[in-house]
Amino acid sequence: MLVLGIETSCDETGVGLYDTAGPGLLAHALHSQVAMHDAYGGVVPELASRDHVRRIVPLAREVLGRADRRAENLDAIAYTQGPGLAGALLVGASFAQGLAFALGVPAIGVHHLEGHLLSPLLGAHPPAFPFVALLVSGGHTQLMRVEGLGRYELLGETQDDAAGEAFDKTAKLLGLGYPGGPALSVLAKSGTPGRYRLPRPMLASGDLDFSFSGLKTAVLTLVRKEGGGLPLAPQFCADVAHAFQDAVTDVLVAKSQAALHATNLYRLVVSGGVGANSALRSKLSTASRRHRFETFYPELELCTDNGAMIAYAAAARLEASRTVPTHRRFNVHPRWELATRVLPD
Ligand code: KG4
Ligand code: ZN
Repeated sequence: MLVLGIETSCDETGVGLYDTAGPGLLAHALHSQVAMHDAYGGVVPELASRDHVRRIVPLAREVLGRADRRAENLDAIAYTQGPGLAGALLVGASFAQGLAFALGVPAIGVHHLEGHLLSPLLGAHPPAFPFVALLVSGGHTQLMRVEGLGRYELLGETQDDAAGEAFDKTAKLLGLGYPGGPALSVLAKSGTPGRYRLPRPMLASGDLDFSFSGLKTAVLTLVRKEGGGLPLAPQFCADVAHAFQDAVTDVLVAKSQAALHATNLYRLVVSGGVGANSALRSKLSTASRRHRFETFYPELELCTDNGAMIAYAAAARLEASRTVPTHRRFNVHPRWELATRVLPD
């Protein structure tokens, strides 16, 4: 079964092509709008939607061309139905539904986070079910128990800012542009370990929830107290970046371990943009050796938003279920809890 996946939930237009008959992912392509939004310090929803409109058709053509397939070969079109920016989601949904209608094949709405949490299954060494998933993106920070396809139990989540959002806000404070997560993690490498210590929010809360907005405020206070005014010295910025990253990753690792312990599972899947963070990966690798659990990541290029994970989630669902949607009504869900998702019969 050949499935085209469309991702337009935020500021990346992604298209992927997955073949269940093998070898799996045939091709995928991405256009990032980061440079366009950088001037505004964050995503401008209307600009995001308009850019998706411009990019989606050429990207879909490119992916089909690279895989040497034609639109007529497609068995289904998958698209991110939510959560995300309403206008941006509607571009992908309309394109997918229109193409599916023209080809007479089903269009399948996919939950964006389901795409992220299944993305390690696209790798060379996929994890077996059940596992604990740590979803760490710009919009979400959640721990899930994943029993099987479509069987997701929310174990804990952030009470305020997402981890990626905290990275981005701290990076902005340090003058690193948007989205600052990757730049902050590069800067942190030249920071002095232990020069500053920031709080580890909710580390001892006894549950699996997170909170990152206080950490951002702690960074602001530190910058005001110790920064010596603008412009901030490069080494000071690096030391703060190091302290911030150290605090966030300590919490993410500790809570992931607690989730494995609480569920009695020993496989951890890490996905979403922050999963690309090298400090997080290195701490998890140390913890996994010490506490004997296995950690799985998507391929680095599939950590952030992409169409491949959307194509895969729909393909897996199509294979698991005998019936496919035949109706042509559609809507998007800008807010949508993954744990409430149930597989169609
Ligand atoms: O999963 P994603 O591409 O989009 C959402 O669904 O949100 O995640 C984007 C987030 C941004 O906040 C970005 O700053 C963060 O992931 N990010 C990182 C790194 N790479 C991306 N944060 C820390 N370290 C990184 N290496
Ligand atoms: Zn995402």
